[in-house]
Amino acid sequence: MPEWLPTWVYNFAQWMDKTPFGRYMRESLYSFPIVETLHIFGIVFLLTSAFLLDMRLFGIGPMRDEPVPKLAKWILPWVWSGFAIQVTTGLLMFSAEATRSALNSLFWVKMLMILVAGVNALVFHTTMYKSVETWKNDRVAPLGARVYGVISISSWFLVVGLGRWFSFHLT
Ligand code: HEM
Repeated sequence: MPEWLPTWVYNFAQWMDKTPFGRYMRESLYSFPIVETLHIFGIVFLLTSAFLLDMRLFGIGPMRDEPVPKLAKWILPWVWSGFAIQVTTGLLMFSAEATRSALNSLFWVKMLMILVAGVNALVFHTTMYKSVETWKNDRVAPLGARVYGVISISSWFLVVGLGRWFSFHLT
């Protein structure tokens, strides 16, 4: 076990591998590919919606003419649905290969990037977004809001890249 991995996480992963559910996910011919397909489908929900909102901040994309709060109201339920699909399907796949995943540092970098994307969205909503009424119709949002947009797009890009990279190193 590598030094950087807390023992309790390692023990939890070992336990998860041995659960009947983990074994089923690993041994069934169809369950893993079906769940992995849903994981990819969840990316479509999550990233399409997040990117539409981020692009709006730069005055680009198909929704560039919509007032920001109106667009946010439409889009945020799709972002949350996509995120729920990702966490559920991600945990299901993790249960099939928990120890192997936990021992792979790329898995943890991916989790860290998900956290960065989440914290960035939270900080945006509790800071810049509070004054949205003053800039909601501007074609290009203020610089502060655009910085959040750049961090959002970059972190999701890295989450996808790390997801693929980590997958490749597991096989
Ligand atoms: C929230 C956004 C997420 C995105 C954008 C994302 C993205 C990806 C991508 C692109 C892959 C590669 C799929 C492939 O190669 O076919 C992947 C695989 C995987 N992800 Fe995620 N993921 C997310 C969340 C999660 C979460 C929350 C977990 C676990 C708690 C997770 C666990 C996994 C596992 C176990 C794999 C499979 C590795 C394998 O192929 O064996 N993912 N993810």
